[in-house]
Amino acid sequence: MSEDKKVDAALERAKAKAEAMKVKADAAKKEQPKKANPFAVEPNEYTHVKHVIGIVSGKGGVGKSTVTCALAVELNRQGYSVGILDADITGPSIPRMLGVQGIYGVQGELIIPGETETGIRVISMNLLLEGEDQAMIWRGPAIAGVVKQFWTDVVWGDLDYLLVDIPPGTGDVPLTVFQSLPVDGILLVTSPQSLVEMIVKKAYNMAEKMDIPILGIIENYSYVTCPDCGRKIEVFGKSRIEGFAAECGIPVCAKLPLDGEIAALADTGRMEMIPAGFLADALSAMPKA
Ligand SMILES: Nc1ncnc2c1ncn2[C@@H]1O[C@H](COP(=O)(O)OP(=O)(O)O)[C@@H](O)[C@H]1O
Ligand SMILES: [Mg+2]
Ligand SMILES: [Zn+2]
Repeated sequence: MSEDKKVDAALERAKAKAEAMKVKADAAKKEQPKKANPFAVEPNEYTHVKHVIGIVSGKGGVGKSTVTCALAVELNRQGYSVGILDADITGPSIPRMLGVQGIYGVQGELIIPGETETGIRVISMNLLLEGEDQAMIWRGPAIAGVVKQFWTDVVWGDLDYLLVDIPPGTGDVPLTVFQSLPVDGILLVTSPQSLVEMIVKKAYNMAEKMDIPILGIIENYSYVTCPDCGRKIEVFGKSRIEGFAAECGIPVCAKLPLDGEIAALADTGRMEMIPAGFLADALSAMPKA
């Protein structure tokens, strides 16, 4: 056989193999209709949310809430209607970052969420407590119940995206969110110095077990931009996130710099003023509205 013929034959075989694999994958997809979820709870009649996206991290302090706010702002700027469900009941920080003071009101048994200046709807334990720093002393199951109510009893209206700030770990709250809310997928927030291997694996395992796709990884504190020459300095060393993401088949969809401006905006409730483009890449990982 000539070289050309050999190549043609190899290509033909590869094509046939790919076709066979596709047929098999399609068949597997057909064989497994999505099981009805016995834990699912229904929202009220005023709530029509196209996509529920969970924002998850392996541990606290990696900037999960900051990223949630920045993402909401970016989506809102693109013209999508966005809400944030702050499921971090014991450490709520979304209203403080976005400068939301309280809920809009109540309507019978239902809660009308608070709203930022640009119209991002927000519900958080902070908005229901008298003083913002009143300590939360409830235990797990009660807290999980509140999260469920934030879905069933809040008038979300028509939303393209509802972002859920999920507390880290594998406790009652994350479990409740994944079981009870129709989560389309999760975005994982990590930092370069966290044990990415373990965290990615843990989140990956949990999401897989719950049948929830991981849409992508956002690395926060990824680098610092030199104010003089604009060079990106990886202060925490070379990021290992790409390798692990590739191994798990998850895209790294955005890298957020460690930036004093972001911290200042978050700490003064002005996250809506975050300069454009910080998380623009993350939008590509979102399901289309
Ligand atoms: N990229 C960043 N640059 C500077 N400060 C940040 C950045 N991301 C988060 N922070 C700050 O770090 C602190 C922790 O962030 P936060 O979003 O509350 O973390 P988490 O929700 O994961 O516990 C906040 O004070 C926040 O303003
Ligand atoms: Mg937080
Ligand atoms: Zn420089």
